[in-house]
Amino acid sequence: MKVNFNVLDRQYKKFQNEYEEKTLNILRKGWYVLGEEVDSFEKEFARYIGTKYSVGVANGLDALIMAFRALDVGKGDEVIVQANAYIACVMGITINGATPVFVEPDEYYNIDASKIEEKITNKTKAILVVHLYGQTSNMRQIKAIAQKHNLMVVEDCAQSHGSKFADQKSGTFSDIACFSFYPSKNLGAFGDGGAITTNNEKFASKIKVLRNYGSQKRYHNELVGYNSRLDELQAGLLKIKLSHLDDLNMEREMLANRYLKEITNEKISLPKVRKNATSVWHLFVIQTENRDELQEYLTSNEIGTVIHYPIPPHLSEAYQYLGFSENDFPITEAYANTIISLPLYNGMTDKEIQYVIDTINKY
Ligand SMILES: Cc1ncc(COP(=O)(O)O)c(C=O)c1O
Repeated sequence: MKVNFNVLDRQYKKFQNEYEEKTLNILRKGWYVLGEEVDSFEKEFARYIGTKYSVGVANGLDALIMAFRALDVGKGDEVIVQANAYIACVMGITINGATPVFVEPDEYYNIDASKIEEKITNKTKAILVVHLYGQTSNMRQIKAIAQKHNLMVVEDCAQSHGSKFADQKSGTFSDIACFSFYPSKNLGAFGDGGAITTNNEKFASKIKVLRNYGSQKRYHNELVGYNSRLDELQAGLLKIKLSHLDDLNMEREMLANRYLKEITNEKISLPKVRKNATSVWHLFVIQTENRDELQEYLTSNEIGTVIHYPIPPHLSEAYQYLGFSENDFPITEAYANTIISLPLYNGMTDKEIQYVIDTINKY
């Protein structure tokens, strides 16, 4: 039996008629970039997350870039971020000219809040909280630190659409939260897409201006902006997916619970969920000592796996200029060498997950 790491057309087929009807509708309307579909998606997404505003943009990286720009975070400023973040999180900081200050992750793969304060300097402007793999970070502790030191908070919710901390959704805890709708995300589009959410009207309007060449009114440019618009097709299709998101997340939770209960191999460490937090299981990440050996074993049994992520940002070629070297972040580096993500996707069959469980238990 073959189990791919992800099979995106399964969730397309589940709502195929809805998607196809909407697509034809939009194609026939003759209006394709920023319009009624984007406006209504923004309203529905803000309502779902629980913020006053949402602004659709072209992708998650742009959402981060424009969020820091809207917060006036730039040259000379420091932003605290977890060292095991995805590289795009760090790029959102450095493209604005600011400096990332890395903090080790906790046992839930999120930022270790107890290690934030020691990294705060008089240059620190913000904390970027990445709800990695689908689980919300410890927002109570992070918010308290931010308040005490007068820092802004940005959330990266690219992997956490719908996850909660203390019954409150990720994307509502910060000055600006950033989302990606890359096709494999829990709320994935059929191409690139992204959004920000915020309760601050000023930030929402600034990002609306920034995403469209710095203009509110056509050909009247107030700022040097970007072309980072969401298109009508993605917005229309995202509205359909959003209406099913809670069910899709529940399906992922059921699959994750099977892994948690039925993987019994002692060589495998299973993911943990923090008290008060929920995960939407964007990824199911396990740890094992001989990770490459496990990956080869799974590949030889036709099970697809991915490492999220094999090279931490501080060791990547792109960030050599920051001057870090190996052993600077030992927890992060140990994770990078021992983690591996198992297949978990909407539409995964009972037979497929059983095969993955049995194969891992035989390892
Ligand atoms: C945590 C995180 N942040 C940011 C991004 C960037 O999003 P995008 O690929 O839409 O630019 C991604 C996804 O790729 C991500 O996983």
